[in-house]
Parts: sequence; structure tokens; C-alpha cells
Amino acid sequence: MRKQSVIDMVNEHHRPPSLLLGFGNVGKELVLLDDFWNMTEVLGILSSSGGVKTNRKERVEAIREAAKTSAKLSDLPFFQKGLSLSDFIDELSGGVAFITIPPSYYSGEPNISLVLNFLKNGISIITADKTPFALAYSKVIEASRSSKAFIGYRATVAAGTPFTDLAKGLRGRSITSIKSVLNATTNFLLSKVEEGKSWEESLELARKEKLLEPDPRIDVEGIDSAAKLTIISNTLGKGISLWDVRRTPLFSINEEMVRRALKEGKRYKYIASYSFDGGNPTVSPQLIQRGNPLYDVRGNYNGILFELEGSEHIYLEGPAGPAWRTARVMITDLIEMLYSPR
Ligand SMILES: NC(=O)c1ccc[n+]([C@@H]2O[C@H](COP(=O)([O-])OP(=O)(O)OC[C@H]3O[C@@H](n4cnc5c(N)ncnc54)[C@H](OP(=O)(O)O)[C@@H]3O)[C@@H](O)[C@H]2O)c1
Repeated sequence: MRKQSVIDMVNEHHRPPSLLLGFGNVGKELVLLDDFWNMTEVLGILSSSGGVKTNRKERVEAIREAAKTSAKLSDLPFFQKGLSLSDFIDELSGGVAFITIPPSYYSGEPNISLVLNFLKNGISIITADKTPFALAYSKVIEASRSSKAFIGYRATVAAGTPFTDLAKGLRGRSITSIKSVLNATTNFLLSKVEEGKSWEESLELARKEKLLEPDPRIDVEGIDSAAKLTIISNTLGKGISLWDVRRTPLFSINEEMVRRALKEGKRYKYIASYSFDGGNPTVSPQLIQRGNPLYDVRGNYNGILFELEGSEHIYLEGPAGPAWRTARVMITDLIEMLYSPR
């Protein structure tokens, strides 16, 4: 007899109603996954100005075709301007919202309110957007506790590698510090400078490779790394907010310093760290010695080093995005939501 897999077990569950917010890089990749449609009953997709209902087979086919192109949701002939969350909220009860909207670190909105509204209505969330967890972690946890709705945020940190799961598994241990490389774009910039390019040339290459956030300050001023450090710290029970993290811009070091370090057997890395013996959470360029596992974190990889009681350490490294992997990781959250015994 064939052994039953987790996916088979999930397929035996009821399919919860679902709604997708965002039809950009990650939202489109989610739409292209069969599991998204097979494991939930998708009611619709929203962008910021309206949305589509997915109640007909031919619509689903058109959406999946559009997801292979650069089309916007509003290009679809059945796009309804003004369609919004309130048009789905009743039907979505007991279901799940997949959130793939851009971050909004300065005001937090509408991202935080959206999530709290879902949770208040008993709707679970699975998100790639870091905003609510980086700015209002405890509010989100409280809301999910009182409504018993699931929150999946594995995709928010190092999307391809379960850093948040490792942090969950370390709760209650005595962690002395976290030291990590959490932003792939700054990795890329540093490696180009090591190869002899200037910061400007490296930025241009990153832009061409579509590695930069639309607002590059999010990468090079450490906001993205700080958001991820905040999420990991909160997962471990250390309640900080994104703006508590002291950030030093990547460009506070010059090209010469980066190349000299390499000649001396060291490397500059853009490090997000937090020492729990009274230190502050920080993001800054730091010299890493050869032999430290973070020395070798390159390209699209992220790495995180937890120092524990007795000077021991646990290290995890793996791929971060891109969008297709992020979407796949959101499905792993869905599997956890549907199958994990509670
Ligand atoms: N790309 C990656 O590899 C990756 C990896 C991990 C995490 N993430 C995170 O995942 C999220 C999505 O990233 P992305 O690259 O897919 O972004 P993106 O390509 O910019 O797409 C964002 C989508 O959200 C829509 N949108 C904006 N505001 C909205 C709102 N209030 N309600 C509903 N839809 C809204 C946008 O459509 P309109 O502008 O037309 O409304 C657009 O379709 C971001 O938070 C990002 O930080 C991305």
C-alpha cells in the first residue's frame, strides 16, 4: 500500500475559503501553483484599486495566463474597480488570506490594519509582507490568540530557509546573541565591490538584476535587515520594534576598505545582530573573519548564527527569495495551518 504523504492528508481536509492580496511577483507565483487552488477554495484576488472574483473556471484560466506575463490585475476584462475586502469578508469566515502586498514601514498602513481586521474576523493569514510583524508583532499575536486564527509568516525572513522555525524551536533556551546576514541585495553589492566595482556600478548591476527594492534605502540603509531581525527577535520572545534597531548604512564604508579587508582574509558583511546581555539590536557593516560561517554567505543566501548557553552555537544558512520560492514557502505555511495538530 502506498504510504500517505502530508500533502495527501491535507487534501483530505476541507478546503478553506481564501483570498489573495497582491498580484505582483509573489502573488503571481502563488497563482501559478496548483496547490494554491487545490488546497483552498479561492474566492478572489485584490490589488489596491479593486479585484477579481474567481468564481468561474474560465476566469481562473485567464488569471493564470496573466500571471505568466507582466499584466496587472486591472488588465483583466473582469476586473472590478472598487472591489474590496468587505465584499469577501463574510464568505471568508474561517478561511485564510494570503498577503503579498508591498511593505509600508513608515506608516505601517494599510498593512497592519488589514491583518488585524482579518484576525478579528477569525480569518487566518499567511503573509510574505513583513510590515505587521516588524512594527506590531505583539498586537498581531494577541489578535490571533483571541480569535484562534492561524498566522503564517515563514516567508517574511529568508523566505527559502525556515529561520523563523529555528527561532521558534529555540524559545525558552538561553540565547546570548544573534548574528546574521539577512539581506541578499547588500551581499550582492559587497561581492561586486570585492570584484573591483564601485558602489555606483554595483548598484546599477543590482538594479539590472531586479535585486533592489523600489526604494533602495530599504536595502542599503538596513531597513529590510532590521525588519527581519525584529521578527526573529520577537519570535524568540524579545519584544522590539523595527525602529528600535540602530542602523548604519552600508555606504558608511568605502570600496577601498572592502577590498583591503579581503586581502587580509576578512570580509565586510552587512550584519544584523542582537546581543541579549544588554546590547542594542543593530544593522551595520562588520568585518567577519575567515572561519566564521557568515564569512561565506554569498549571493542569494542568508545565514543566521545563534549563540547559546555554554558558548555553543547553532548556525543555519540557505536561499532567501526569489518570488517563486517565497510562494512555495507560503504553501508550507498553509500545510502547517491545515495539518498541524493543535
Ligand atoms: N519578491 C520576493 O522575492 C519576496 C521575498 C520575500 C518577501 N517578499 C515580500 O512580499 C511582498 C510582495 O512582494 P512582491 O515582490 O510580489 O511585490 P510587488 O511585485 O510590488 O507586488 C505587490 C502587489 O500588491 C498590490 N497591492 C499594493 N497595495 C495593495 C493593497 N493595499 N491591497 C491589495 N493589493 C495591493 C500591487 O498592486 P497595485 O499596485 O496594482 O495595487 C501589486 O500587485 C512584499 O512585502 C515583499 O517585501 C518578497
